[in-house]
Amino acid sequence: MDKFKILGGGPLSGEIRISGSKNAALPILAATLLANSPVTLTNVPQLKDITTMNSLLSSMGVKINGDASNGYVLDSNDITDFTAPYDLVKTMRASILVLGPLLARYGVANVSFPGGCAIGSRPVDIHLRGLEAMGAKIEIDGGYIRATIANSSSRLKGTHFLMDTVTVGGTENLLMAAVLADGKTVLENAAREPEIVDLANMLVAMGAKIEGIGTSSLTIEGVESLHGCTFNVMPDRIETGTYLVAAAATRGRIKLMATSATYLEAVIFKLEEAGARIETGDDWIALDMLGKRPKAVSLKTAPYPAFPTDMQSQFMAMNAVAEGVSHITETIFENRLVQVSELNRMGAHITLEGNTALVTGVERLSGAPVMASDLRASASLVIAGLVADGETLIERIYHIDRGYEAIVAKFQSIGGSVTRVK
Ligand code: EPZ
Repeated sequence: MDKFKILGGGPLSGEIRISGSKNAALPILAATLLANSPVTLTNVPQLKDITTMNSLLSSMGVKINGDASNGYVLDSNDITDFTAPYDLVKTMRASILVLGPLLARYGVANVSFPGGCAIGSRPVDIHLRGLEAMGAKIEIDGGYIRATIANSSSRLKGTHFLMDTVTVGGTENLLMAAVLADGKTVLENAAREPEIVDLANMLVAMGAKIEGIGTSSLTIEGVESLHGCTFNVMPDRIETGTYLVAAAATRGRIKLMATSATYLEAVIFKLEEAGARIETGDDWIALDMLGKRPKAVSLKTAPYPAFPTDMQSQFMAMNAVAEGVSHITETIFENRLVQVSELNRMGAHITLEGNTALVTGVERLSGAPVMASDLRASASLVIAGLVADGETLIERIYHIDRGYEAIVAKFQSIGGSVTRVK
């Protein structure tokens, strides 16, 4: 099992390039199942989760050529298998995103029921109820979601559906189902995350008819078929935020290229509140702490455009060494404060009250062996290691390889002493 060895040091400084968005690329890859001619995708990040999604699509018969640096070409015209098998789904819950496209185009899908994970039970009830509202017949059998189209015709039917919880994956699955459904679909209380906007923009490039992109009410006029397209995946806003927070926690200065501040207002607002000086351009963001210790900032996670849950643990690591007391409230997932115990092992002063962590900043943490539990909690432990005296060893870093492309090289290039050890 690989580990990360981190030596606490001084301020991070330098320039790195941000990769394409994992959480946009995953639904976009699933959406290629809808096209009756090849789709070319550029700026797809080289991540474990992307490899897993590509393996899943290939196992169904999708032909995938090219690579991350030159772009992938996916041709889903000879699908032979409509199953997302347990051994793939158990490694990546986002496999559920093939359910909508398979049903919409082929009228059948067998997807292993995704289990929970470290951050919560992660139910998919809204995905399933929405598909049933569009005429799907859903049975759970042997741990698999077996979906077919109930009525004789081979198409889903447009519907008016309200999601009682704002769900990113649920909105994506139902959007991908609706674009080929017969008639009009309205999705109310839809998630508005930028990754959904990116998916919707690609579907429109494939010939889909979608109104209200970026709002909480999506109206889709179903079409008979969708053609291929060429699409450039948006930058990863969470990777961007992670490096900004790492620079802030280490009192450094950093410039991030091939990214955009457009979708990071809530995060940038909080970093400025922590004392960072932020400058932005069309495709870059720069942060400078002017050598100062960050001020503690309180935050509460909520659906976009509010503060993103995927940035919560990174800010907790910064608050652990910030000046002052802060409280962090997690409202999206029921178990996403697990990094508290690991940060306290490193000398942080954090107490938990329900879904709120109370953080009293200390000057420096002290290095310790710690364990990663999920993708973003792993990132918070790397940040903590960079502002700790001595050596920090992080176990179970397979989590981090799922979502941060070339993280060791990127941190080393800005002066972070992060190495991968066996
Ligand atoms: C997506 O997960 C992201 N993953 C997550 O990022 C992100 O944390 C999350 O959205 C919230 O922004 C991808 O995009 C691949 P949800 P998703 O459905 O779609 C409840 C990362 O670190 N819910 O928006 O699974 C659910 O329990 C990952 O990159 C239902 O109750 O999240 C949760 O409390 C982690 N029923 C809330 O909604 C449903 O049918 C939000 O979940 C679906 C969801």
